[in-house]
Amino acid sequence: ENGTRDDTGSELTKIMAYDKGLYMKKILFVASEAVPFIKTGGLADVVGSLPKELDKRYFDARVILPKYMCMKEEIRNSLEYIGDFYIDYAGTSKYVGVLKKEYEGVKFYFIDNEEYFGGPKPYGDWLYDIEKFIFFSQAALCALPLIDFRPDLIHCHDWQTGLVPVYLKDRFAGGDFFRGIKSVFTIHNLKFQGAWDIKTIQYFSGLSDYYFTSDKLEAFKDANLLKGGLVYADAITTVSKTYAEEIQNAYYGEGMDGLLRARRNDLRGIVNGIDYNEFDPEKDKLIYNNYNAKNFRKEKIKNKRALQSELGLPVDDCKFMLGIVSRLTDQKGFDLIECVMEEICEENVQLVVLGTGDGKYENMFRHYAWKYPERVSANIYYSEEMSHKIYAASDAFLMPSMFEPCGLSQLMSLRYGTVPIVRETGGLCDTVESYNEFEDRGTGFSFANYNAHEMLDRINFAKHIYYDKKREWNKMIDRAMAVDFSWKQSALEYQALYDWLIG
Ligand code: ADP
Ligand code: GLC
Repeated sequence: ENGTRDDTGSELTKIMAYDKGLYMKKILFVASEAVPFIKTGGLADVVGSLPKELDKRYFDARVILPKYMCMKEEIRNSLEYIGDFYIDYAGTSKYVGVLKKEYEGVKFYFIDNEEYFGGPKPYGDWLYDIEKFIFFSQAALCALPLIDFRPDLIHCHDWQTGLVPVYLKDRFAGGDFFRGIKSVFTIHNLKFQGAWDIKTIQYFSGLSDYYFTSDKLEAFKDANLLKGGLVYADAITTVSKTYAEEIQNAYYGEGMDGLLRARRNDLRGIVNGIDYNEFDPEKDKLIYNNYNAKNFRKEKIKNKRALQSELGLPVDDCKFMLGIVSRLTDQKGFDLIECVMEEICEENVQLVVLGTGDGKYENMFRHYAWKYPERVSANIYYSEEMSHKIYAASDAFLMPSMFEPCGLSQLMSLRYGTVPIVRETGGLCDTVESYNEFEDRGTGFSFANYNAHEMLDRINFAKHIYYDKKREWNKMIDRAMAVDFSWKQSALEYQALYDWLIG
């Protein structure tokens, strides 16, 4: 009798709680990086900022990451130990430690295993990365009962977590705890898939032969972790509408276009936002001089002068400062830049580059900085502080990507009133409106074909507006600083997706 009353009571409490918005949907993000703990690219910005932007009245969103030794020491030391256990992995018993930290209202958990996460960088050797992220996927799921968090939905990101949706339908499907957990898989970059021969991946994953056929994990004779996510997740998203369309075609599909066409009803594009608190020219402590949409005409330039001076470039308001903050890889269009580097670096231009990546591009920029010390500043390292200074100081930002799932750098540039010059692909298409001199429209400059001279033509056109039509240029900055790429709208779209899947 008591039992019945209790049940009804708790059901009623649940309904009332729901009315008050207290019935939380539990979402777990599983990913290989997140700001402020560890970052190699935009994935970290997204995983670090989206969870805190979800409506806290309805969603309890938490994040689980590897505990890398290469995280800052003060961060590592601030983590709270929760517990540990061992799992059988690839024939041996492996330690799984679980730690925790609450940051800006979001609970982050960390999987500790020094053998796998002890290296100087999050990623290194392909095969070893595959081994460690399969371990991570298993360990993350096994850790959930320990942290006493049973998510309604697991949101997985990129190839590193591609097996999570597979495991949810396989070995974790049976038990009460895991039964019915939904999954979303987000593609941040289709280029990286975590593919290796079937035998090896079968060995580490412990999955049966059943999974290694061409309609499941097999692709082009190899086993492919990303494909696991694409086949088994209840929904797939990617980080802009245009990229969601593009990847259904062979040119951008990286061999997955057929599968993505087959699953197009479960695939949607939700454009990324950026953290408007972290990236705010009015409050940013990392830049030399704060400014806003009203006073940028007078105040922004002080950032340019200070950066010129810090980098040893001539301090001169009249130089057209072109910024680049990027991983130096083929994806970002650096072969176009290399092709017309001489023409870009004419005497009115100061090209300021911050990035690391392929040696050939690092050396190319170093070479030009040596050749034209007054025109090129090559900063071949990683620095958040310097990146903010460049977003704030530059007149224009160059991002001629070959493909770009979303791109965050152009959003940061818009926010700082730095005019983006981009190629019309993926998220760049969806976030930068091309300047139209006849209709007084646009927030940047763009070109369509992957062609160095088309790019150069746009850079020259931008310079023409900058030098000869300053009022037009400033009106473009007005428009750029007025567009809203905070998470507000995109977080609502994710919430709608979660609601739809969880019911
Ligand atoms: P991707 O994720 O493909 O590298 P995005 O534009 O989405 O490209 O995100 C890149 C992020 O990494 C941005 O926040 C950018 O400022 C940052 N970033 C890239 N290179 C560096 C660097 N050398 N130093 C500091 N930040 C960097
Ligand atoms: C990837 C993409 C980039 C995107 C980022 C975050 O690194 O290359 O375009 O902005 O993920 O989603």
